[in-house]
Amino acid sequence: MAEAFERLVSLLDYPMFVVTTRVGDESAGCLVGFTSQVSIRPPRFMVGLSKRNHTYRVAEGAKHLAVHLVPRQHGELARFFGGETGDRTDKFARCAWHSGPNGIPILDDAAGWFVGEVLSRYDVGDHVGFLLEPIAGSAPDKFEQLVSFSDVRDLDPGHKA
Ligand SMILES: Cc1cc2nc3c(=O)[nH]c(=O)nc-3n(C[C@H](O)[C@H](O)[C@H](O)COP(=O)(O)O)c2cc1C
Repeated sequence: MAEAFERLVSLLDYPMFVVTTRVGDESAGCLVGFTSQVSIRPPRFMVGLSKRNHTYRVAEGAKHLAVHLVPRQHGELARFFGGETGDRTDKFARCAWHSGPNGIPILDDAAGWFVGEVLSRYDVGDHVGFLLEPIAGSAPDKFEQLVSFSDVRDLDPGHKA
């Protein structure tokens, strides 16, 4: 069964996000595929962060996370946030961003984004699910082409999951 499941999910295509956060003067962010809206009323969104990631370690103490959609024309942003680790690279010295709601870094080249308050955390295995309540955001009238899993499946992650 595990084999069929792995094959099945590897065939899926789904939007990729860059999730950022900040605690004190430490910023963090990485490419994330494990996400889903999980409630309409109230609006709730879940983000899965790998326990090995620098972003997870910062997010453990964070009250908010920002979730960004990446346009294909800025695909390099997704590859950078997924292929490098904040353990060795200051990602925020190498991309355009500004300080958004609650001081969370917002990527200037994102196609859309929201900041969510962390309501709870679920230890689900090698990832931890962060349940978010969206509190602010920016959405275009319609999306251009977005980075999805098929665009980055060849990428070597900065940290093995
Ligand atoms: C296709 C793909 C999907 C990924 N999905 C996730 C994910 O859902 N959650 C996560 O924490 N990391 C995910 N990663 C891995 C991180 O983006 C990657 O290890 C990153 O370098 C971690 O950076 P950090 O150590 O600065 O947090 C994914 C990477 C790739 C290439």
